[in-house]
Amino acid sequence: MRQDHLITATQLSRDDIEAVLDRAREVAADPAAYMDRHAGAVLALCFFEPSTRTKMSFDTAAKRIGADTIDMGGVESSSVKKGESLADTVRVIEGYADAIVLRHPSEGAATLAAEFVDVPVVNAGDGAGQHPSQTLLDLHTIREDHGLDDLTIGIMGDLKYGRTVHSLAAALTNFDVRQHFISPESLRLPRSVRFDLHETGAQVREHTDLEEVLPELDVLYVTRIQKERFPDENEYHRVAGEYRIDADTLEDGKEDLTVMHPLPRVDEIAADVDATDHARYFEQAHNGVPVRMALLDTLLGDDEGTEVDR
Ligand code: NCD
Repeated sequence: MRQDHLITATQLSRDDIEAVLDRAREVAADPAAYMDRHAGAVLALCFFEPSTRTKMSFDTAAKRIGADTIDMGGVESSSVKKGESLADTVRVIEGYADAIVLRHPSEGAATLAAEFVDVPVVNAGDGAGQHPSQTLLDLHTIREDHGLDDLTIGIMGDLKYGRTVHSLAAALTNFDVRQHFISPESLRLPRSVRFDLHETGAQVREHTDLEEVLPELDVLYVTRIQKERFPDENEYHRVAGEYRIDADTLEDGKEDLTVMHPLPRVDEIAADVDATDHARYFEQAHNGVPVRMALLDTLLGDDEGTEVDR
């Protein structure tokens, strides 16, 4: 497959996902084999919103496959501050780089950017839209523990604004996975996401109580309430802190239940979970490097391995 852009998880087939995850396994087993593979290539990091994990793991991943990175820097220090449009910014950056990683507060920003440039664009989060490279590392983490079929997954927290949730839910429809969505009524999955899931025939249920489904779950994917996306801060305070788990909560879960979180966490997973055998979130964040190495290797093109089709 040769994939020009990675914009949404819905564009990924089961084969696409497995190809990248198989590559990620190879990378993790023998990172040295990838060291000089993309020498001379340049990856542009364009983050119009805060980021720690996504930006730093793309940066590390690029360097570990021999590529260099250039960083647009914060919005405050770039020409965006002077009123430059996103279309102009990416058209200029296209001349400096072989691929662009873009995070932006507006839903649809990556789709728009991809229309203006020929180099691959990776959507590293577009508002409350999608975050597909996060999904690949989430799937890798799930796969290494449980495989990706005959699974029951609970996704809890801010399902309305959580872009990692929207991408993960879409990608999981490629596998035999029962998806349970747990949130307050006001933060349930957006109608469009629910519609798309039903269209694929996905096995989906919604709950307001974790207890209802916890004993069935193989994976519990917890998310942060996305404070920055609430039009009304009072509404945020009404739901903040409602969906919190601690080590006691997990007593009712399966022994091999794994707890994931895209991070950063605020208070939705108590620190006492960290020391339990259920916690996977730090490992999950670390998996960002081999998975993004595999993704960049695929997007930048390689003569030695599988190609990703459009
Ligand atoms: C997530 C994001 O930016 O959507 N973070 C990440 O990339 N790991 C989740 C979040 O901010 O809550």
